[in-house]
Amino acid sequence: MNTILVVGAAGYIGSHTLRDLKERKYNTVALDNLSEGHLEALCGGVLENIDLADTEGLNNIFKKYNIDAVMHFAAYAYVGESVINPRKYYQNNVLCTFNLLNAMLENNVHNIVFSSTCAIYGNPVYTPIDEKHPQSPVNPYGNTKYIIEKMLADYKKAYGLKYIALRYFNAAGARESAEIGESHNTETHLIPLVLQTLTGKKQCIDIFGDDYDTPDGTCIRDYIHVNDLADAHRLAVEHLMNNKGSEVINLGTGKGHSVKEIISVCESVAGKRAPYKVTARREGDPASLVASNCVARDLLGWEPKYTDIKDIIRTAWNWERNRKY
Ligand code: UFG
Repeated sequence: MNTILVVGAAGYIGSHTLRDLKERKYNTVALDNLSEGHLEALCGGVLENIDLADTEGLNNIFKKYNIDAVMHFAAYAYVGESVINPRKYYQNNVLCTFNLLNAMLENNVHNIVFSSTCAIYGNPVYTPIDEKHPQSPVNPYGNTKYIIEKMLADYKKAYGLKYIALRYFNAAGARESAEIGESHNTETHLIPLVLQTLTGKKQCIDIFGDDYDTPDGTCIRDYIHVNDLADAHRLAVEHLMNNKGSEVINLGTGKGHSVKEIISVCESVAGKRAPYKVTARREGDPASLVASNCVARDLLGWEPKYTDIKDIIRTAWNWERNRKY
């Protein structure tokens, strides 16, 4: 049985993927520096608490375990913060990934599944967005992921690295059991914020602009369930292990929902009203981001199981009411 090193295993998407791999009896090694992740998200599992800046520590992990493939979730991912403090993002996202790739090569590990983002596309020139869409990120966070994708392609050519870069659209939801879920130290994402308005933790939700060129004037996003992302990671690592080629792959449902629609679905799931007010647009928000997911379906045999936004929000609500961290 192959062993997978899960980097950023205590974060939102990393922890859901780790649980899925463990349930399917994969050998896994969980690595996280807990700067953004939560120990509780590992549900008692063993953690290698290493920072990717620690090249010696990282190298020791590869010596200690017989790693066959890496899943790399670890990154800072607040778009707004990346504009204010790009140094933090280049340091953590780019340099730490550079260290990780080099440690892999030094230890003869050649397979990596990398967490990329739809932020790589910038403002869409057509929709749904497929993988051939021009790439023109509009913020430092997107730039860091763009640079890493270039690094992966260059390492592939020069050193035979094999990779799959998964470009997520908007991750949402939680495990059905609600034992783990979305928990950011500073929450900026729409669905958890609306749900926190419904639990009373937050007074009112701000809608960032209602004058976009969309049917109701609010921004449209493609919300993809975190378990569907976990499925895609497992299929991607299998793809690499079966000696198939490197790929970049979008992960979204292919359906878009506006901010107002999300608020209304949250209200219907919770059975109460969420107070909201319309405020100014948030800088760097494209009007609409919806994925074409044909490549994921064709190459990985993946398909999203959560195709109804109500189901996605139901799992997020279940988590929000029973949060453990
Ligand atoms: N929004 C609000 N009010 C809020 C929060 C968000 O109206 O309080 C709106 C945003 O303007 C946006 C939509 O809700 O239109 C979704 O916003 P999120 O912050 O939940 O998600 P983003 O689309 O900004 O971010 C996601 C990922 C990022 C990734 C980005 C790519 O979380 O990691 O997509 O565009 F970089």
